[in-house]
Amino acid sequence: MQRKILVTSALPYANGSIHLGHLVEYIQTDIWVRFQKMRGHECHYVCADDAHGTPIMLRAQNEGITPEELIASVKQEHQADFADFAINFDNFHSTHSPENQALASQIYLANREAGHIATRTISQAYDPEKEMFLPDRFIKGECPKCGAADQYGDNCEACGATYDPTELKNPVSAVSGATPITKDSEHYFFKLGDFEQTLKQWTQGGHIQTEVSHKLNEWFESGLKDWDISRDAPYFGFEIPDAPNKFFYVWLDAPIGYLASFKNYCERSGVDFDEFMKPDSTTEMVHFIGKDIIYFHALFWPAMLQGAGFRLPNSIYAHGFLTVDGKKMSKSRGTFIKARTYLDHLDPEYLRYYFAAKLSSGIDDIDLNLEDFQSRINSDLVGKVVNIASRCAGFISKRFDGKLSNSLSEQALFDDFIAQADTIADKMENREFGHAMRDIMALADKANQYIDEMKPWALAKEEDKDQQVHDICTIGINLFRVLVAYLKPVLPRTSEQAEAFLNIDSLQWSDISTPLLNHSINKFKPLMTRIESDKIQAITNASKETMTTEQKSEKQVNSNIDPISPEISFDDFAKIDLRIAKIVNAEHVEGADKLLQLTLDIGSGEKQVFAGIKSAYSPEDLLGKLTVMVANLAPRKMRFGLSEGMVLAAGPGGKELFILNPDDGAQPGMRVK
Ligand code: 2FM
Ligand code: ZN
Repeated sequence: MQRKILVTSALPYANGSIHLGHLVEYIQTDIWVRFQKMRGHECHYVCADDAHGTPIMLRAQNEGITPEELIASVKQEHQADFADFAINFDNFHSTHSPENQALASQIYLANREAGHIATRTISQAYDPEKEMFLPDRFIKGECPKCGAADQYGDNCEACGATYDPTELKNPVSAVSGATPITKDSEHYFFKLGDFEQTLKQWTQGGHIQTEVSHKLNEWFESGLKDWDISRDAPYFGFEIPDAPNKFFYVWLDAPIGYLASFKNYCERSGVDFDEFMKPDSTTEMVHFIGKDIIYFHALFWPAMLQGAGFRLPNSIYAHGFLTVDGKKMSKSRGTFIKARTYLDHLDPEYLRYYFAAKLSSGIDDIDLNLEDFQSRINSDLVGKVVNIASRCAGFISKRFDGKLSNSLSEQALFDDFIAQADTIADKMENREFGHAMRDIMALADKANQYIDEMKPWALAKEEDKDQQVHDICTIGINLFRVLVAYLKPVLPRTSEQAEAFLNIDSLQWSDISTPLLNHSINKFKPLMTRIESDKIQAITNASKETMTTEQKSEKQVNSNIDPISPEISFDDFAKIDLRIAKIVNAEHVEGADKLLQLTLDIGSGEKQVFAGIKSAYSPEDLLGKLTVMVANLAPRKMRFGLSEGMVLAAGPGGKELFILNPDDGAQPGMRVK
């Protein structure tokens, strides 16, 4: 039976570039969609830029352009990146669109009618200079627990404490540097608790992965809370109906953006939007997302849809995060790789295959190991799959005028290949791409073994062995064709070139079992080349470079947001004893998210310091390094032990934190003047 399926990937924010971490999801979804289409199903894949919110508004201001200009240029960049990675959206729209405004209002008003919206006044930090309310991440100050300066939002990078942003000491607005005041404002809330029964039922209905449903149970146990869906002006978003100067919070209209993009597409293509959206629809709606945004998709989203009288999603498929070489992507290591940087050096099909080989239906993180990536592509795709065709094609074109023989001499081998069509299809359907790739590569090994054993190149030198050579190569080409069909959702471009070489129409899954016989093929051109190490090196080098230039320009843009602290006297300065220190030991601190425990040699002895630099360094990165420490800071008792000083580091935080690194000529204990 032909299925009708609407598929989405999460909408990327319209203020940053697409990177390899994003691509895990787009590649996963695209493979699944291409597979469905190849099976003959009606499948529509839509996406959009997520264009609203405070960060986008502020970035546009910093760049001296309107938010509309910013999101238009980012949209172009995103679309070019996706197209080059062969992500085949049927529509890529924007949440800042008339369709989305209409649907957001419709869904909100229907929920309001049904009594699911409440209002109440809340107090929040407000920037009196900039005249705007400040989201948590735009407030910084001193940690209420340890006093560390320059802490953002609700947790301290130095001591690991968590707190309410209103507790920060000497808080300043990261937007203007002004001291925030507390101000009241009326907010609109979505009463999520009204949907507890529906959500409990829905989450047990096989729509989400088991691991995810466990998480949801925890949320149910701690109680479903009202969700604040309004933000005060100035805000880049849609004004709430009947609420002047109140705007929908970006996360309210983001998932509605899926429907807006679909609607925009339906209007152009004649697909029936209402058929997909009515509550008893027999069509499917499937969302691919990252595991960090489950709450929004598995609770708020079905509830909003239910409240508005729409159908609920059939499936939410969450995936894990990407690590590179076993670690979080890192700007300093050059593993924070943008889509475009990758494209400048390597064929996107390689990454599509590698991710496919690593992906499963679960939510575990997946690792891009750069060495393994190179060897896997070279051995699986170049060494196994493409090799089959290149070993057989020459004989067919030179000796048999490009024509395959008219029967299969090894029917059993061919049957073995096509017998796997159903199991491979099941694995693709269930997003077990890694397992499917393993099955396909096992078949490729089999095909190569067959050619190795038959040695057509040796037979070709003997008399009267023409028929055998013809038969062997005909089998080889047919096995290659089956593999191409299996790999087509993963390697769309290579498959297209292979189809041209095989001189056949676009392969569908139902074509797999029919062999190509008595059929002319075209001259073989190499379909893929090996990855050389210098390409990977070039990508990591370029990633380090682009990040450094970006950091610089970001700093220039933001130079007004990190105001210089009040003046101190020379005497105050002279009190600080800065010393060169050698890191002789570095360890994780059990139970601390942000801290590393350092042992520092300062010539006259050793000091123990707890430094909030775990987000940027692993202990092994630090061993033996020189840095600068405040050697005469009064020892402070921290939760994890006594800290006897501070090491100096620069940067906004997170991965962007660099401990000062004096030249090698410096010796532990030297005074820094
Ligand atoms: O987390 C994010 O990157 C969001 N922009 C995803 C939005 S998905 C959907 F709800 F729109
Ligand atoms: Zn602290």
